[in-house]
Amino acid sequence: MAGGGRAPGSSDGGSEAHLGGTTIRLALEPELPTVNGDGIQIEQVMVNLLLNAVEALESVPSTERDLTVRTSLVDGAAIEVSVRDTGVGLAAPMSEMVFAPFVTTKANGLGMGLAISRSIIDAHNGRLWVRPNPDRGSTFHFTLPLA
Ligand SMILES: Nc1ncnc2c1ncn2[C@@H]1O[C@H](COP(=O)(O)OP(=O)(O)O)[C@@H](O)[C@H]1O
Ligand SMILES: [Mg+2]
Repeated sequence: MAGGGRAPGSSDGGSEAHLGGTTIRLALEPELPTVNGDGIQIEQVMVNLLLNAVEALESVPSTERDLTVRTSLVDGAAIEVSVRDTGVGLAAPMSEMVFAPFVTTKANGLGMGLAISRSIIDAHNGRLWVRPNPDRGSTFHFTLPLA
């Protein structure tokens, strides 16, 4: 999870990856300071956010599927990771509810991914939240304090 790595084949942190038929655009800050944390738990948060994004994109036409992962330094005190999708988006009153356990809008959903993700980020003294995009879809953000 520590910063300092560069996306392969890129000098500016811009790159692409592929997940479930969706192209993920990476906008990674090239030189980020180190954060302390449990790499496996943070990876679990990323998997939850990415899978939700891919699922949110399933119901929009494939030409309108955009998923962007961005990293940045916030106020010299934390790193921020955001996962933005152009998927179905959240109903406005849902935006805090989705972090509660067992809240799901999916036929086969467990509704645990965001609840677990929030408890992981809380335990790392970070913050996890969501904002609707101005156009379509939503963006989940989390911060992790610098080591
Ligand atoms: N990227 C997203 N776009 C739209 N809705 C989302 C997104 N991520 C999560 N949600 C909403 O939040 C709910 C809870 O998500 P989560 O806790 O991961 O459980 P699950 O994916 O099993 O439903 C989802 O059912 C969905 O309604
Ligand atoms: Mg989920």
